[in-house]
Amino acid sequence: RGASVRAEKNFSRSDSSVGLSAQVCLHGGQVVSWRNHRGEELLFSSSKAIFKPPRATRGGIPICFPQFGNCGTLEQHGFARNKIWTIDDEAPPLNYGDNNSNKASVDLLLKPSEDDLKCWPHCFELRLRVSLSMDGDLSLISRVRNVNGKPFSFAFAYHTYLSVSDISEVRIEGLETLDYLDNLSQRERFTEQGDAITFESEVDRVYVGCPGVIAVLDHGKKRTFIVRKEGLPDIVVWNPWEKKSKTMADFGDDEYKQMLCVDAAAVERAITLKPGEEWTGKLELSAVASTNCSDH
Ligand code: BG6
Repeated sequence: RGASVRAEKNFSRSDSSVGLSAQVCLHGGQVVSWRNHRGEELLFSSSKAIFKPPRATRGGIPICFPQFGNCGTLEQHGFARNKIWTIDDEAPPLNYGDNNSNKASVDLLLKPSEDDLKCWPHCFELRLRVSLSMDGDLSLISRVRNVNGKPFSFAFAYHTYLSVSDISEVRIEGLETLDYLDNLSQRERFTEQGDAITFESEVDRVYVGCPGVIAVLDHGKKRTFIVRKEGLPDIVVWNPWEKKSKTMADFGDDEYKQMLCVDAAAVERAITLKPGEEWTGKLELSAVASTNCSDH
């Protein structure tokens, strides 16, 4: 069952050169692969990942909804990543400038089950469009609609596992001087002091009120990920480092060196929708070659 669900939807640019592709699972609405023109995988997946519903797979881009982390009554990161979504052949058009044809896309839909309504009693429709452009950019657009009689609030995150050469070779630019909530100290609030963020130990932070574009520079792979977001004010940065890695059954002891989670998110302040309202949150990822990382 896990394998067939996992294989539900692959898509690639048939009209472009060679390797460009993305793979999305119905399990979790989770993007599990994104490859560039050279066929190189850009998202991290653990060699110990378990492809078996209802657990989310360790890697790719799990969707955290309607809760982020364990701040709430639901399971960690909410239930959306653990559910089987459907293909949405009748997705309403996006009034978002994303309806053009120069992309390969798939639309998925999640509606609450009876069990979901027991633990989170709000009728919603969560739509996800995953698109791959001719340039190799990957975009995820989520829409949450309140089809309830009452308002509800939720958190959201694209929990994005980027594949990196070695975490010691990576830095993030664009979060300097921002405030962050530190998940390693009960979400205490700090202000970022450094020029760019580099990694020497476990990091688990929610940067708040972030700009719409940040860059993740990987000196080892001479690659820069550009992360663009709309409708999602926060950025979560997570690397479990050595000790925590050893406590995770679906993660290799040394794999923290090859990944970095950078999540476009709405965590600090919940999003509230009145009956009939819809929210849209967009993530766009580009991976560009950087001949000299210090130029950025
Ligand atoms: C991060 C959180 O986004 O996800 C961390 O900030 C958490 O606190 C991590 O440990 C992984 O969560 P999970 O549930 O996928 O193991």
